[in-house]
Amino acid sequence: ERGGSYSLENFRHLALGEVSSTNTECLTRARQGEASGLWITAERQTAGRGRRGRAWTSEVGNLYASLLLIDPSPPELLSSLPLAVSLAVHWTLRRVLPATAEAVEIKWPNDVLIGRKKSCGILLEAEILPDGRRAVVCGIGINIRHRPETAPYGVTSLQEQGATSSAGEVFTHLFDEMIQILNIWDHGHGVAEVTRFWRSAACGIGTMIRVNLPDRSLDGVFVGIDDDGLLILETENRLHHIAAGDVFLLET
Ligand code: BTN
Repeated sequence: ERGGSYSLENFRHLALGEVSSTNTECLTRARQGEASGLWITAERQTAGRGRRGRAWTSEVGNLYASLLLIDPSPPELLSSLPLAVSLAVHWTLRRVLPATAEAVEIKWPNDVLIGRKKSCGILLEAEILPDGRRAVVCGIGINIRHRPETAPYGVTSLQEQGATSSAGEVFTHLFDEMIQILNIWDHGHGVAEVTRFWRSAACGIGTMIRVNLPDRSLDGVFVGIDDDGLLILETENRLHHIAAGDVFLLET
């Protein structure tokens, strides 16, 4: 049985000023032989990346953080890593938000929402290094002081929700929570435990949702997630297990 391999002393933190993207910084260092467990944070990004090739606006005052993991698990377990990362963020937000803040929930796969509004973004990128090791970078952006003025979905910031913590203080919690969840995830039946925690933090289970896939969109009931972290959607005639797509909640 695996387990307990993510110990505190293996984690390091490098705080930078302006970078193109903290994910890029981690990948560059991985190619140069950096060991697993390096966190890079930056005050500002000039080319922050979002999912699906979108840009992530990165003004000073928000948190931009990336964690480099090398060969974090057998490849077949990697599909549940984004869920684990979203839980670490969920736990972090619950530590820094006041009791008056709106509910913190996760929208599949890993959007952490406050009051159904997007408050952070998570981007995992993987690469096989020249020496055959697999680098996985977990990039996390949290809206602390700023949020986009316009977005195709509701957005919020921690400040707007009454939190007073700085990016550095939020990062301290994220650092701890990530070690916690990685140890759960990596341990024996950890994936099942992560999916169980994830289900209890998720929004929209049992309700109608729309999933936009690259080639079509499907409306159905969000049944839950399977043990690989795939979304289970029930339409009139069948159950679909979906690995990637954009989810829209159709009921409020
Ligand atoms: C999304 O589209 O929701 C994901 C956004 C991820 C943004 C973070 S900020 C830190 C890290 N560096 C990047 O370039 N992107 C991620």
